[in-house]
Amino acid sequence: MRPAIRPAVAADQPALVALDEVCFGSSAWSTVAWATEFDRLAEDRVILVADEGSVVGYVVLLVPPVALDVVELLRIAVTPAERRTGIGGQLMTAALARCAGRTVLLEVAAGNESAVELYGGFGFEEISRRRGYYAGGEDAVIMRWRESV
Ligand SMILES: CC(C)(COP(=O)(O)OP(=O)(O)OC[C@H]1O[C@@H](n2cnc3c(N)ncnc32)[C@H](O)[C@@H]1OP(=O)(O)O)[C@@H](O)C(=O)NCCC(=O)NCCS
Repeated sequence: MRPAIRPAVAADQPALVALDEVCFGSSAWSTVAWATEFDRLAEDRVILVADEGSVVGYVVLLVPPVALDVVELLRIAVTPAERRTGIGGQLMTAALARCAGRTVLLEVAAGNESAVELYGGFGFEEISRRRGYYAGGEDAVIMRWRESV
């Protein structure tokens, strides 16, 4: 079944906390951090979920109200059992559809091959690196997307 992609609602919060923990382990956002993300929905956050009866993926964007300001893709994840079935791509498509005319930036660990490949497939290009940014000395890659006209 192809999940529906829809904006998150408050009732999704527990599922997102749990899925984030599964996907990011010790780097997961806390319950408080997720609550802050939801508090900012009216301000500058967009949270989309992939819903197939339960939440199987999500993407979080920081979308400043000023159109000239860059959008940041803060997080994207898909439940491990359903990876490589197109859900990450569905979430990216829906996220970027909300970024018409904007520049989108993100940061990703250089060794996160699945994410780097996903982003590259959507036209994100590496523009810079933070050398040795992560514990263990891994680089953070900064990638940029601009809507092609
Ligand atoms: C990155 C992630 C969201 C991709 O989600 P997904 O649902 O598996 O992605 P899709 O099935 O839509 O794949 C889309 C494309 O991404 C790339 N891709 C995804 N997984 C890949 C892998 N393991 N190796 C190489 N490329 C991969 C491919 O180009 C793929 O297209 P293809 O299947 O036609 O080759 C998922 O792997 C994930 O949740 N990772 C853990 C969380 C994370 O690291 N998030 C990014 C940092 S915030």
